[in-house]
Amino acid sequence: MPISIKSEREIELMREAGRILKITHDELAKAVRPGISTFELNRIGEEVIRSYGCIPSFLNYEGYPASICVSVNDEVVHGIPSKKRILQEGDIVSLDAGVIYKGYHSDAARTHAVGQISDEAAKLIEVTKQAFFEGIKYAKEGCRLYDISNAIGEYARSFGYGVVEDLVGHGIGQNLHEDPQIPNFPMTRRGPKLQAGMTLAIEPMINIGTHKVAWLDDDWTVVSWDGSLSAHYENTVLITKGEPELLTI
Ligand code: MF3
Ligand code: CO
Repeated sequence: MPISIKSEREIELMREAGRILKITHDELAKAVRPGISTFELNRIGEEVIRSYGCIPSFLNYEGYPASICVSVNDEVVHGIPSKKRILQEGDIVSLDAGVIYKGYHSDAARTHAVGQISDEAAKLIEVTKQAFFEGIKYAKEGCRLYDISNAIGEYARSFGYGVVEDLVGHGIGQNLHEDPQIPNFPMTRRGPKLQAGMTLAIEPMINIGTHKVAWLDDDWTVVSWDGSLSAHYENTVLITKGEPELLTI
């Protein structure tokens, strides 16, 4: 499929989807603390999303059983919330959520510290976030898609981190996942030309150790192969002729 260019009306709806998702993440950030279950975080996320008349896009997506993904420590993405999973001081937790507003999607993820965490863990979270910002320096008309991938991947690798390759970012709009796929690692080609009106979910997933991942038996939870800590940072981004507009910040 060609990469869709959104109309001004569609962009307006995606701005609202993004604004509500930002509020959701702000509420989730306040709730993260030692002793809370990943189930409770899911409940809070779903409640905020529905309080704005929106739909949590992840719920039942290809059979996914919850409204947000909660991935702890070596879990990279798609951790399934559970009453038995209680956050502990020193953990890191990645929260990923998506909102549908009047048929249009937003998608964003944050990794948080649970209480006091190690310097090593804090650095991973910071570098993963910065990798996103290195990438979006190229998120504008006139650049090419894999300029973003190269910038993200080279930045994260310069710290010796493993850049996950089995999962990628994506176009977003009337669907959660649209073309193009957006790798977070350096590509040989420069990829398609970026045009104003494209909306992209850019989402580095970075491990302290190997880039390799494995799937748990629940068929959802992705973990780092070597058990090392993993972080995730994602926003929905509107390409313009100038600076990108971050719809979920
Ligand atoms: N946020 C994820 C992504 O960017 C989607 C989660 S998959 C779901 O692709 F099944 F949990 F929805
Ligand atoms: Co996404």
